[in-house]
Amino acid sequence: MKIGVFDSGIGGEALANALQQTFPEAQIQVVNDHDNVPYGDKTSAEITELTDLAIQPLLTKGCDVIVIACNTATAVAIEILRQKYPSQHFIGIEPMVKTAAKQTKSDVIAVCATPATLASERYRGLVSKYASHLTVIEPDCSGWAYMIENNEINEQEIAKVINDVCERGADVIVLGCTHYHWIKELVQKLTNGNAIVLEPSEAIGRQVSELLGL
Ligand code: DGL
Repeated sequence: MKIGVFDSGIGGEALANALQQTFPEAQIQVVNDHDNVPYGDKTSAEITELTDLAIQPLLTKGCDVIVIACNTATAVAIEILRQKYPSQHFIGIEPMVKTAAKQTKSDVIAVCATPATLASERYRGLVSKYASHLTVIEPDCSGWAYMIENNEINEQEIAKVINDVCERGADVIVLGCTHYHWIKELVQKLTNGNAIVLEPSEAIGRQVSELLGL
């Protein structure tokens, strides 16, 4: 089985590692677009064009499924790619708003994601479908993907955001960018046990299983 994984940068490797553990036999091919990361502050047209270009090696390798391991590219481009390449299976990744809405007890959740994801119709649709009765805090994480990509993690900057959302009552924090998977443990520690932290690697593994009948 061949699984293709795409992200603008190192977020794809975080997800690919998780998939490799779930499917030890699978051949996992990861591509990124390091020259153009971050995508999160680009226009929808730019994100779509760059994603389309970057996945070409995965399309030619005949992957059984291509995982768009980028919330930003999924939000903006996945439907366009499905139309353009109808015989290719794609799985996208989205902020876990539905799960967060089920798990919150305080009725306050925080979604950490890129500006392009937060502005997208697809994400706005998720919030109105599953979380319209909740307070959804969308903190400014616009510098995080760059910081993580370049291994310049500023713990104080992250702590400021996490402390603020916890003080405002968030008891579930959604990591809506695969770059942030690399700092999941740090975020969890910074909550001091006041919030749970969600990211969808396991759910993506289940979707791959279902799609490929494994
Ligand atoms: N890792 C990507 C995501 O999941 C975005 C990072 C970026 O390029 O801004 O949204």
